[in-house]
Amino acid sequence: MRNDPLAFLGTELESLKQQGLYRKLRVLEGRPEAHTTFDHKSVVNLSSNNYLGLTTHPKLIEAAAEAVKKFGVGSGAVRTISGTMEMHMELERRLAKFKHVESVVVFQSGFAANAGTVAAILTKDDVVVSDELNHASIIDGCRLSKAAIKVFPHKDVEAARKILKELPAGQRKLLITDGVFSMDGDLGRVQQLCALAEEFGAIMMVDDAHASGVFGRNGSGTVDHFKCHGRVDIQVGTLSKAVGVLGGYVAGSRTLIEFLYHRARPFLFSTSHPPAVTAACLAALDILETEPQWIEKLWDNTRFFKAGLDTLGFNTGMSESPITPVIVGQAATAAKMSDALFARGVFAQSIGFPTVARDKARLRTIVAATHTREDLQYALDTFGTVGRELGVI
Ligand SMILES: Cc1ncc(COP(=O)(O)O)c(C=O)c1O
Repeated sequence: MRNDPLAFLGTELESLKQQGLYRKLRVLEGRPEAHTTFDHKSVVNLSSNNYLGLTTHPKLIEAAAEAVKKFGVGSGAVRTISGTMEMHMELERRLAKFKHVESVVVFQSGFAANAGTVAAILTKDDVVVSDELNHASIIDGCRLSKAAIKVFPHKDVEAARKILKELPAGQRKLLITDGVFSMDGDLGRVQQLCALAEEFGAIMMVDDAHASGVFGRNGSGTVDHFKCHGRVDIQVGTLSKAVGVLGGYVAGSRTLIEFLYHRARPFLFSTSHPPAVTAACLAALDILETEPQWIEKLWDNTRFFKAGLDTLGFNTGMSESPITPVIVGQAATAAKMSDALFARGVFAQSIGFPTVARDKARLRTIVAATHTREDLQYALDTFGTVGRELGVI
């Protein structure tokens, strides 16, 4: 019998266990809601990106079910062959209006939107100037493009300026930031970076995955929040987080979008969304445009929960959004705390290296519009008890 050529993976996993970085997948048994059941346990769910509760909104469910009845369950092909349906085009037109841009293209996920776009527009002769905490999908897009990658310290506009200043004037440059940073919940310096992009002739790109449905008028994102319309060449948004469904999109000029039709590899080589997904996204846009109470409730809950964590004495970092990290340091402590909370009915996933720095392991909490005050008060009381037991506060 031959030796297992994948045995080294077992060794790697063992090492993850030793470092407290091995996590079992929690299995959702109920609906993806603010209070639900994972692994036979009823919990307050603080680990979902379902900010507005739209994953189970009756209007989205009805739209998806209708679309399945009418059009079936799959699109049958990639967009560029025969997988473009009228509803795909309608969603893109609606999103373009929503984002106040000329044009939008939808990808299968936010990851595909970021990685596919960066890799499509840059070549090995170009440079990316990127915040150190930008999302993995941006980093992978940069790597795929083979462009030189210059990373600036988190939100350090002066450092970004220094990098840009040293680059040859004729070289193509992409300056890129997350709108909301996914593990810290703080906001990118969109306005200041727009000014830098203008000064140095760089392409300006913002990944608004966690801002879509949360910041800006009707949840249209940080470009709206910071009043930077017309200054950001490429905006990425997701349909998988506050919108409650699945997908990502790129918003920009008609030229950019037509170029992506021809060069973005996830668009060219991966099947388009099934009708249920697209119909549910359209219904979600209706809700964003006509039911502002969900975003108001989200922010109300966010303020309440953040104030509670701060009063308890937790280190919640620099968050300015419904994502609030509870930073504890070592991965093993974060895992222990997450398990202890779960045992008491609160689900806050622990996050360690490589998603965050080795000494900045944390529990990442996200409040939703659909949490009740009782849910949040219970979660705070439990955080207090467990935090004291483990000596975190
Ligand atoms: C900042 C950021 N960008 C992009 C993505 C990818 O989005 P999606 O889950 O739709 O692939 C995520 C999700 O984890 C994210 O946090």
